[in-house]
Amino acid sequence: MIIKSINLETVCGITSKLPQNQLPEVAFAGKSNVGKSSLINALMNRKSYARVSAQPGKTQTINYYNINDELYYVDLPGYGYAKVTESVKEQWGAMIERYLHTSKQLKLVFLLIDIRHKPSKNDVMMYDWIVHNGYYPVIIATKSDKLKRSQLSKHLKEIRQELSLNKETPVFPFSSLSKQGREEIWDFIEEVVMP
Ligand code: GTP
Ligand code: MG
Repeated sequence: MIIKSINLETVCGITSKLPQNQLPEVAFAGKSNVGKSSLINALMNRKSYARVSAQPGKTQTINYYNINDELYYVDLPGYGYAKVTESVKEQWGAMIERYLHTSKQLKLVFLLIDIRHKPSKNDVMMYDWIVHNGYYPVIIATKSDKLKRSQLSKHLKEIRQELSLNKETPVFPFSSLSKQGREEIWDFIEEVVMP
């Protein structure tokens, strides 16, 4: 995919009305700090267009990036961020849920899991949500640069086991540092969203 234009077109907070977009949407879900915004930057060929932080809880709004006037990447707030109050957690959760349930253009939800860690309860819940709502599940195992090559397959297997994935379910190892997986993810998006 050649990136001709990108534009952070819409930013939605807790009380915002969600946009009724015409173009297909691809969303990125996962716990805080897993690397959602970093992945979106890598897919857009930008270093820091989407705001990234070492502190979890960076993305607190739903951000719609218009790519080439062809599709949107939707950056979601992360879940499971321990340092905010329960009521803030609930509001973020409600916001993510509202987006996932009401977007008419949502074609694909990627679930990002840190390749180093076992999927959490929340990850399993998000995975189940994706499947039960009729979306084809696709996992991105982030921060693959943090493991030695020889450890990768063991960790990928563990993610598969914990989520009880089918053989056909894709799991893409990805690193925003090395860009491992970037082309495969783009190819997949193009196949599903722009056939
Ligand atoms: P929230 O917005 O808080 O939900 O986080 P996020 O999922 O958008 O994560 P973000 O992209 O902001 O990245 C969090 C931290 O992880 C930052 O310090 C990034 O530099 C780092 N990071 C993201 N991806 C990678 C990766 O592939 N490899 C390594 N080593 N670090 C990464
Ligand atoms: Mg973010």
